[in-house]
Amino acid sequence: MRIVLLGPPGSGKGTQAARLVERFQLIHISTGDMLRAAVAANTPLGQEAKSVMERGELVSDELVLGILEERLSQPDALKQGFILDGFPRNLKQAEMLDALLQKLDQQIDHAVLLEVDADEIVKRLAGRAEQEGRADDNEDTIRKRLQVYEEQTAPVAGLFEQKGVLDRIPGVGSVDAIFQRIVKALGAD
Ligand code: AP5
Ligand code: MG
Repeated sequence: MRIVLLGPPGSGKGTQAARLVERFQLIHISTGDMLRAAVAANTPLGQEAKSVMERGELVSDELVLGILEERLSQPDALKQGFILDGFPRNLKQAEMLDALLQKLDQQIDHAVLLEVDADEIVKRLAGRAEQEGRADDNEDTIRKRLQVYEEQTAPVAGLFEQKGVLDRIPGVGSVDAIFQRIVKALGAD
């Protein structure tokens, strides 16, 4: 199974991806996690991405596609299937994903859009800021990330809707309840 998880910052993509990975033995591919690892390791890629991420803007499409292609082409992802979390992030990346999957002779089976309103998001990310101190979980950057999501990422859902693979899932409630909704949408309950 090949899944794209869509949704605003803090909508629970990472949380639900972890559950899905466990249930369906998929590979979790989070471009945000990969970029944060590159920043922590201070690689050239990380150096380029750091300040962009701290501002809540999008890292360049080419840079992100590079790390994605490398991961997606590895044997485990090809064999087991994957969950994309945080990619595609704009219409250009959606186009790039189409081309990459065509090259690998694969396609996306399901796109899951987690719907959560802005007040809940701010509450969740403020909570995480206290616990984990992620560099982009401050008030200004959260606002910017939400704006970037609305302007650049939200339109991506429409593309998957046109392909007939989009499921909109209410992303509020317990983690378990949301997970059950997703499993049902995947037709796997
Ligand atoms: P990325 O890492 O993708 O971050 P994001 O989209 O802003 O989303 P988050 O990871 O903050 O939230 P999430 O939806 O995973 O929710 P989570 O499960 O953690 O991107 C970060 C940056 O990297 C971008 O701004 C950009 O700069 C760059 N980047 C990444 N990908 C890129 C790309 N493709 N192109 C260009 N740039 C890119 O949950 C959030 C919190 O809520 C947690 O504390 C969690 O415990 C809690 N929570 C989860 N579920 C629930 C629930 N049901 N009820 C209550 N709390 C909950
Ligand atoms: Mg995440």
